[in-house]
Amino acid sequence: MRRWLVMLVWALAAAGAASVPAAAAAESHDTTQPAAPSYNQRMQWFADAKFGIFIHWGIYSVDGITESWSFFDGDIPYVDYMKQLHGFTASHYDPQAWANLIKASGARYAVLTAKHHDGVALWPTKRGLNVVKDTPAHRDLVGPFVKALRKDDLKVGLYFSLIDWSSPLYPAFTHDQTRYRIEDDPARWTRFVTYYQDQVHDLTRRYHPDLYWFDGDWEHTPAQWHTKQLREWILAHNPDAIMNSRLAGYGDYGTPEQGVPIARPPYKYWELCLTMNNSWGWQPHDHHFKSVDELIRILADTAGMGGNLLLDIGPRADGTIPKIESDTLKQIGQWLGKNGEAIYGTVAGIPKDYYEGASTLSKDRKTLYLFIDGNPEGPVLVKGLTNRVVRAWVVGNGTILSPQRVGATLGTAPALLYVHVPADELDPQHVTAIALQLDGPIKLYRDTAKPAQLDPDEPTMRTVN
Ligand code: GLC
Repeated sequence: MRRWLVMLVWALAAAGAASVPAAAAAESHDTTQPAAPSYNQRMQWFADAKFGIFIHWGIYSVDGITESWSFFDGDIPYVDYMKQLHGFTASHYDPQAWANLIKASGARYAVLTAKHHDGVALWPTKRGLNVVKDTPAHRDLVGPFVKALRKDDLKVGLYFSLIDWSSPLYPAFTHDQTRYRIEDDPARWTRFVTYYQDQVHDLTRRYHPDLYWFDGDWEHTPAQWHTKQLREWILAHNPDAIMNSRLAGYGDYGTPEQGVPIARPPYKYWELCLTMNNSWGWQPHDHHFKSVDELIRILADTAGMGGNLLLDIGPRADGTIPKIESDTLKQIGQWLGKNGEAIYGTVAGIPKDYYEGASTLSKDRKTLYLFIDGNPEGPVLVKGLTNRVVRAWVVGNGTILSPQRVGATLGTAPALLYVHVPADELDPQHVTAIALQLDGPIKLYRDTAKPAQLDPDEPTMRTVN
């Protein structure tokens, strides 16, 4: 029984692990474009970036209500939701100021909601709702954003919802109203697929995004969405681009949302998307902001598991960014300015059995970075490190540390490694990073002995209390 359970869990984990790279693997068999970059080559900038900014901006910021879902779930009638079109001015929108803030946060890329589930596009689409013809903003908001990011040497991501609850061609309208069923009118659905894919083509031709952040794939199957065809089109026209996993099985990387993973997720590349308070868009009554310290810990933890953090902000309808959000981003940027070496370009660190906190490794695996939350009681401990430590230092200020080996080595098991970090060398506000430069690529000791059999009838066992 237990074995079945273990096998089931294993099979599920393996299926999860396979789901993202499957499309990527298929790509490597494509010999028609020998010059196209490989999966790993396309993903490299993303893997190195570790930190990106998500921007949820749309008409929902006029009344400060939940993006798209507020009408879909029936919290507000559709007509009232759409009245927000009249208040979306973007009157203080300063894309270069946005880009500069993103740069100052230490993020290496940003993702803007070009079109959310409500179907209101931020660029001049040929068909459907858009802010150029339907709101007082009266201009393209995506183009200037893309230009400003590129000026600041940041990678450009565009969020695009496959779902379009406003389109008369789309089956679902609200949670309790459906326009039609695909089985009853496949031609209408085909027209929708052409409509949405044309919009992705248009985004590609106009802005050439580095990253496509799709969303909403759960409402239909990959065959219905024709996501394989869309992926192939994108890679044929934008060969360096990458796509998130919400493309119904045809994406490049996993996208856990809100919950910080406990263990390393089963994807080669992944990105945790996270709100700064509890809302994606601007909601003035939501004051549940995560502290800078909490966010830095999450960033370190995420990088420690080999992932990226995509941290969300929600600008107001006039394009201004709430002060608490810009202040938070700047403070994260200050921390990254000092500690970036332990985050950017790293790979996942060592298991928590060896070091209890988050850790990362340099790409050559010869430097181990340990993150220390707050003020530890005594020295930090690393177990099972077989390498010799050549040099150790505090990343933020370069102070040299002197790790000590404690305990005798028995057989091949390495002694414990203790690193004392003087209290006045700890980051006074946030996580401290320390670096251990090793004599070669990291080697961790693993116990090979079988655990002792605890036989209650064995005489020596009974005497132990
Ligand atoms: C969910 C929600 C959407 C939000 C997205 C961000 O998919 O449907 O409202 O934009 O998460 O990750």
